[in-house]
Amino acid sequence: MCGIVGYIGKTQKGADIVLDGLAALEYRGYDSAGLAFLDKSNAIVVSKQVGRVQALRTALTQTKTALSTSTTIGQTRWATHGAPSITNAHPHYNADRTITVVHNGIIENHQELREHLEDKGYKFVSDTDTEVIPHLIDYYTHECKTFGQAVEKSLGKLRGAYAVLVMTSKQPDTLYAARLSSPLVIGIKKDAIFIASDATALIEHTKEVVYLNDYELATLKQDGTYTVKDYKRSLYINRDTETLDYDAQESNLGNFPHYMLKEMHEAPDTIRMATSGRIRLQNNTVKLGGLESVADQLKYIDRVVIVACGTSYYAGLVGEYLIEELAGIPVEVQLASEFKYRNEPFSRGTAIVAISQSGETADTIAALKKVENYGVLRLGVVNAVGSTIARITDAGVYCHAGPEQAVASTKAFIAQVTVLTLIALHLSQGKSPLFKPILNELAALPAKTEAILAQAEAIKKLADKYKDYNDFLFIGRTYGYPCAHEGALKLKEVSYIHAEAYAAGEMKHGPLAMIDESFPTLAVATDSPVLEKTLSNMQEIKARKGKIIAIASEGNTSVKKLASDVLYIPESPEQTQPILIALVEQLFAYYVALANGHDVDRPRNLAKSVTVE
Ligand code: M6R
Repeated sequence: MCGIVGYIGKTQKGADIVLDGLAALEYRGYDSAGLAFLDKSNAIVVSKQVGRVQALRTALTQTKTALSTSTTIGQTRWATHGAPSITNAHPHYNADRTITVVHNGIIENHQELREHLEDKGYKFVSDTDTEVIPHLIDYYTHECKTFGQAVEKSLGKLRGAYAVLVMTSKQPDTLYAARLSSPLVIGIKKDAIFIASDATALIEHTKEVVYLNDYELATLKQDGTYTVKDYKRSLYINRDTETLDYDAQESNLGNFPHYMLKEMHEAPDTIRMATSGRIRLQNNTVKLGGLESVADQLKYIDRVVIVACGTSYYAGLVGEYLIEELAGIPVEVQLASEFKYRNEPFSRGTAIVAISQSGETADTIAALKKVENYGVLRLGVVNAVGSTIARITDAGVYCHAGPEQAVASTKAFIAQVTVLTLIALHLSQGKSPLFKPILNELAALPAKTEAILAQAEAIKKLADKYKDYNDFLFIGRTYGYPCAHEGALKLKEVSYIHAEAYAAGEMKHGPLAMIDESFPTLAVATDSPVLEKTLSNMQEIKARKGKIIAIASEGNTSVKKLASDVLYIPESPEQTQPILIALVEQLFAYYVALANGHDVDRPRNLAKSVTVE
């Protein structure tokens, strides 16, 4: 969703730095972009464009002043309040353009504030919720002794979620940044400060960062100094910097045409990174350093509730099967957006596990906040190091998949399922008879994903064959059931083809009615104790002239007798098959989208990180 970037420092490259940062945040999804800077006479200059950051860059190269700017703020906007337009694009400003603001999130009480300010004579030009902020700060500058106090007082009036940057011509050597339920990270370098929605936008310049927490206001100075104040508790905060553990190159496309393809090709390394130092084959152990601090509490866990959204939710469903089978602990997986509004009883023996690639998904954060005072253990399975979910959970296991930029999650799903497998093994305390075989299989999986990637051409051919169908059904049983869901989600989000997922056993309870020659089914029919049941479902589909693409295990001979086309995964225990099945489904969705000419990395209407409800 929206991305914000700010720069303050001694160089005159503010506009370039912010434009590059906004380009690095493009993966989050947006529909317009804009920036504001102080010109040589410290007047605020604003430039906005609908569409890509490149359009903004082109427009700015024609503005000579932009070539030498210091303090600059910018934003990529994903429309919520008001259509994508130049007027609604950020930055927004007060009437005399002495105060300008970029904002991520939603100001829930914007209507009330707008009416209040209109009564006081303020005029609004946009439909956005954000525009109340510069006017409100302007209003309070008449009451407060300093500009900083006016910013702080205004923040106290805002309800909802925000990450906000404020720049003023009244204080050209200062930028203000504040957050509530929307991420902000400060990058620190000698004589310069960078600030952004996520570290991808600043890693090019520095690896030393400070993450802001809710209700914190950072005052950033041109000489590279800064302060952080908790404005709720009126306390100044002294927080150590953290060092980012990845490089700018990891965020680059390299020789791949799309991030989605690059990230699928990272599957082998993703599994290696997620298991590195955690599996000990010699002595049959799993070591999860991130859970050591809560080892005693984990012994008394009698229920696990997994909360997540989208692909992370489907990874959670795989986790449910794994933890129940390996560790014998009952698990429920809930959509975070539903969980937070439910009134269900909790005992202290419950562990809440939040799964999130970005660590910034608003619904998942809200789910964790809901149980904040319940006395339950809150764990995270998170990819983005230092993200909100990683910081607000009691403990957790990082996915270590590196930055994922395509909107469609691919390697993150693989990392999440790998980590959930490790957690299930860890919770089983070595007692499950499956412990050793699965531990060994985790070490063998990278090579098996390489074998799948080597089949990319065959998967592409199949995608070309099926690209024109309007509907798809995905079916599976047990471990194949979450895979059916994840496969359907991947296909619909990048190819815009209608795809539904069902447990194969549900076919006769309704979905079978849809089947005819125009409605193909992708059946997860890999080797497992329930394969025969799935074969019966495939028989029923075939009898109704439904075409079937099956995903089967190498060496299997019965599936191809029923399927129109078969894609094979290397043999693997059913518990680890989801990693391999998902990669086949991801490649299939990618090639269907490509064949239909879609922007695979940035599907329409979607954002990478869903930071508003
Ligand atoms: O960052 P998260 O894992 O919390 O994101 C959750 C979903 O928004 C995400 O998985 C989404 O469904 C992906 N676009 C799916 O590919």
